[in-house]
Amino acid sequence: MASTKATLAIHGGTPVRNTAVRPWPAWPVWDSREEEALLRVLHSGKWGSTSGTEVHAFEEEFARFQDAQYGICNVNGTASLEIALRAAGIAAGDEVIVPPYTFIATASSVLMVNAVPIFADIEPDTYNLDPKAAEAAITPRTRAIIVVHVGGCPVDLDAFTELARKHNLTLIEDCAHAHAASWRGRKVGAIGDMGTFSFQSSKNINAGEGGIILTNDKQLHERCWSIVNVGRIPDGAWYEHHVLGSNYRLTEFQGALLRAQLTRLPEQAARRMENARFLNAELGRIPGIRPMRLDERVTGHGYHLYLFRYNAAEFGGMPREEFIRTLSAEGIPCSPGYVPLYRTDLFRTQGTVAGAQMDYTKVVCPVAERACTEEAVWFTQNMLLGTREEMQEIVDAIAKIQAAARA
Ligand SMILES: Cc1ncc(COP(=O)(O)O)c(C=O)c1O
Repeated sequence: MASTKATLAIHGGTPVRNTAVRPWPAWPVWDSREEEALLRVLHSGKWGSTSGTEVHAFEEEFARFQDAQYGICNVNGTASLEIALRAAGIAAGDEVIVPPYTFIATASSVLMVNAVPIFADIEPDTYNLDPKAAEAAITPRTRAIIVVHVGGCPVDLDAFTELARKHNLTLIEDCAHAHAASWRGRKVGAIGDMGTFSFQSSKNINAGEGGIILTNDKQLHERCWSIVNVGRIPDGAWYEHHVLGSNYRLTEFQGALLRAQLTRLPEQAARRMENARFLNAELGRIPGIRPMRLDERVTGHGYHLYLFRYNAAEFGGMPREEFIRTLSAEGIPCSPGYVPLYRTDLFRTQGTVAGAQMDYTKVVCPVAERACTEEAVWFTQNMLLGTREEMQEIVDAIAKIQAAARA
């Protein structure tokens, strides 16, 4: 443990970790597997998925890995959400319940199909959408719910599948953080009607950009396929277009990269889980630090992010932003994370957003507000690929700040 007398690095002391000498694990991780994959596509001359086999093979491999029957790749996680909403028939004026504690795409995708995002609050101990708040937000116009497995922690999928069934709603899982995550032993993505993933460069498998929609529903899969392929149907002619779609296809280079990245995911996911278990136990002992609650039905956590809750009162009143600066100076990079989406300019400054007649300045989700302004602290997934010794440095740095703040 760090000495209680140690001078904080932000005040000129020695940092717990000198990141100039010992940087955190780099991301992405790649080796000859990725080199071979990219060269394989290059030499094949089949660079697009309409002629090659890599994207299609990845769709099957990732769907199998994630316990889903079907997968349809596309350009990114944002487009995946829009395509899923279109495939579900969500249209102008429909209401879609979303959490405010997420990336903008979860809500902007709803606007992109001219539907109305309705924000419902999150749970205080997981930061995932609260099933009770979601139920209270249901109106006769509600057609769908998008849940987000925040940081990679599955939402209460028992509650949400039951809610969707009871009210005849489409349930979309935003799994941008949740590669390899599982609920009661089953991987997420096709537990709801559709699940969307991102392969953007920070994500736990990465092709620079990319996305996939998973589903067990043949009809939804076919609709997604058509939307991704400018409205074509699988056995139709090249110039035959049945529905409104676009060209959302991934390249074969990305498909091949993703196949290589997927071979590493099980080992990396296990390492992140093990390190997170250690952090949960050790950080939980420090007054003023509360790890997120892990439901016993969460059998796998994606850990795209490691989140915890900070309580300034236990740190001598040190505001969270100062804590984040102080911890970063100790060589432990961290961030405060999201702002509630309804407080972004997109929602605040326009009474009408893309045809949605909503005054978002009146929306208040107190739990999300508290998470965003006072409590939440994030570490990125690459840090969880470190050693036990490196996890101990995280604990030591926070304990050092605690001791100094209370002194
Ligand atoms: C929760 C969530 N949903 C959707 C997305 C969108 O994914 P992409 O960046 O691939 O468009 C992200 C990306 O960060 C995300 O974090």
